[in-house]
This record gives sequence, C-alpha cells and structure tokens, in this order.
Amino acid sequence: MTKTDSRLLRAELLSFDADPGEGDVPAAGSLRHHEDGALWIENGRIRAVDDYARLAPALPEDISVIDHRGKLITPGFIDSHVHYVQLEIIASYGRQLLDWLNEYTFPEELRFSDPEHAATLSEAFLEELLRVGTTTAQVFCSSHPASVDAFLAASHQRGLCMLAGKVLMDRHAPEDLCDDTRGGIRDTERLIGDWHGKGRLGYSLTPRFAPTSTREQLDATGAILRSDASLWLQTHLAENTGELDWVAELFPGSRDYLAVYERSGLVGPRSTFAHGIHLDQEMRGRLAERGANLAFCPSSNMFLGSGLFDRLAARDTALNVSYASDVGGGTDLSGLATLKAAYQVGQLRGQPLTAWQGFYGLTLGNARALSLDDRIGRLAPGMDADFVVLDPAATPLLARRTARCRALSETLFALMMMGDDRSVFETWAGGRLQHRRVAT
Ligand code: GUN
Ligand code: ZN
Repeated sequence: MTKTDSRLLRAELLSFDADPGEGDVPAAGSLRHHEDGALWIENGRIRAVDDYARLAPALPEDISVIDHRGKLITPGFIDSHVHYVQLEIIASYGRQLLDWLNEYTFPEELRFSDPEHAATLSEAFLEELLRVGTTTAQVFCSSHPASVDAFLAASHQRGLCMLAGKVLMDRHAPEDLCDDTRGGIRDTERLIGDWHGKGRLGYSLTPRFAPTSTREQLDATGAILRSDASLWLQTHLAENTGELDWVAELFPGSRDYLAVYERSGLVGPRSTFAHGIHLDQEMRGRLAERGANLAFCPSSNMFLGSGLFDRLAARDTALNVSYASDVGGGTDLSGLATLKAAYQVGQLRGQPLTAWQGFYGLTLGNARALSLDDRIGRLAPGMDADFVVLDPAATPLLARRTARCRALSETLFALMMMGDDRSVFETWAGGRLQHRRVAT
C-alpha cells in the first residue's frame, strides 16, 4: 500500500469560483475567502478547504499542520505566454519588435541547439518561475526539438503542469534556426508523441508568427491541431505596426492578419494569441466566436513600445483575455508585476484593473483561458495542489502599507503594486513544496 502524504496548511485563503466582474465589489458567489482557513492536501491534490475551526474536528490526529497564519494562500499563478529560451536576454535595450528579434532574440535562440545549454536554462527558468509563484505556464521553446525535450523533462521531474512547444519557423530567420517545412512538422509529431499528456504536461503547437512560416507550414500545423482536440496552440498576433505591414505584404490575398491564421485552421478554443493590440472589434468578435484567448502582455507591450492593449474592448465581445509575462520581451516574470503593468496600461486607457479582476485573471481566469480549469486555478477539493503562500509583510514598506489595510481588496492591491519575488513565501505544486523564500 502506498503511504498517504497528507498535510494541512493554516492561513488566510482566497480563491475564485467565477469572474468577479469589473466592479469594486466582487460579483456574488465569485470568490471564497477564509480569514483563518485550512487547506488540506493529500497525494498531490486538494482534499478539503474550509475555515480552520470547521475543519479541525474532521482532521486525523497525526496530520502534519503547517501554521502560516499571517500569510495569504491563493492558487498558483499562471503565465499564459512566455519564452524560456529568452530568459537571459530579458531587458535588452532599445528596439521595437522586428529589430529586437533580429538583434537579440534569434542569436540567443541559436544557443539552444546545444541540449546541455537547454537543460541548464530549463532548470534556471523553472526556478525563476517558482520563485515568483508561477506554477503553470504556456511556454515557447526554440525551434530545436532538444529545447522542448529539456524543458518538459525538467518540468516533469518536478511534477509541474506545463504547456510547451517547439517553435515552427521555416523562413525569415537565420538558417540554423529555420525548419525544413516537413522536417519541422515531423519533429513536432515526435514531440507530441513523447510528451503530450505525460504526467501533467501538454503540448502546444507553436508557429512563431505569420511572417516566419510559409502557408504550407501553417496548413500542416492546422492539420495536426484538427487531428487531436486535446492539443493547444500558441502564436503571436498584431503586436506591432511594422509587423502588421509585413504580414499584409507577405499574405496579399488575406483580408487581415487574423485571417492568415483562420485560413489554416489555427483559431480554436485552445489557441492563445499573444498581444492582439492592433485589432478591430470585428476581429475580436471572430476570435471570441471560436473561443480563443488573447494573452495580454503588458510589460512586454510597454518595453517594446508595441501599444496599449484594449482589455475592455476584448471583454465587450466576450473574448477571453489571459495575462502573460512574455519574457524576454516582458521585463518581469512575476505575475504580480504583470498585474501592476496591466493596471498602469489600464489607467492610461481609462480602464483600471481592480485587484479582484487581477487575482482572478492570474488564477482561475488564466486556467479557463487555457482550458485547464478542471485541474488548476482554484482552491477546491479534487483540484491539483498548486498554490502560492504570499507574505503581505514581505518588505518593511509593504508591511507598513498592509498594516493599514482594512479590507482584503486593499491588501491584494498593495501586493499587486508592490509585490515581487520577495512577496512569495512559498510555492507549492503537485502537493510538493517547490520553493521557499530564502530568509533575509
Ligand atoms: N513575435 C514573434 N516572435 C516574437 C517573440 O519572440 N517575442 C515577441 N514579443 N513577439 C514575437
Ligand atoms: Zn511572445
């Protein structure tokens, strides 16, 4: 008989059951909050969630109790779009998208032909993710299959829920990064066979963006997507005006950028389109109709000068919006930092982001956008035990600020504005303690 691994965490708990809406007060029934809560985890899953006083009588006598009173537990953060192979070129100065790709990104990605380098950077990237409380991400690897093997092997070893894929790119990049069209598709099929559905992993088909794929490659990708409804797809869309002009030039018969992807059958309920800044309402409606999601990448959009994402226009068409760091275009892996940037973009657009909406987005919202909400995104019985222990007194100033907070929304907002890796006391995934902040 296998030994039961059962433990209880006592802390303040917050989890969403539904979208809280845009108002200052969360929609009725949208969240669960236990000021003195108990999170009972067993064999990698959540067994029960309740007030501590209510659950205490039902607990086995010998259960190990971790007392985290004074801390706040939420579901693990989710990053819907990030490039692990760009970790070391984060914060590279002074370019907009297309120059930035040529100058920094492509040369960096060439290094991932070396499996040892890919393995080292996979470990480093996962450590950084866990340090900031991110337990699941949808990840671009490089065009080298070995970069995917390395990343998914490292994720599997830690028992993490991760989506990833090999970049498909058969033109307009350095020769050593480009696929042979059929070869890139065969590599993808091999990777799907080896990794998709293994443990907590999923495969996300990854055509980089329209300019770097031929129609033949996009069509072949669409055929794979159609062949298995459990696959994901990730790409970029309408991030930068120079990119838009280039797409119009490369696909002169296409009515717009999105239509390039539609024609190859790439727009579906498990498709994530990063950025989607320069879209009109009709295009947003077409994405919404197919159940796709737009990954809002605020720190990247500001860093690369791409534009101010219109979150409420997407919401008006019922289009799913997810939140993403987009490192290395993004300047911070932290989900809290992503929310801060999203708030700032929202302020400039007259559409501020409430703390409710932000924390919902990082957790259940992103889980729903990625069709992972049957497993992650909530603190609820049966869900995978992926959660983050936040410290509202992580720094002297944060402690001063949160000591003055009289409502949970104020504490959440302070964390969203001031939080970073120091605010993450512990990160748990699959019921395992994956990261604990080093004592300072
Ligand atoms: N568009 C195509 N490739 C990329 C990339 O690596 N990063 C960003 N931000 N946009 C892209
Ligand atoms: Zn990206």
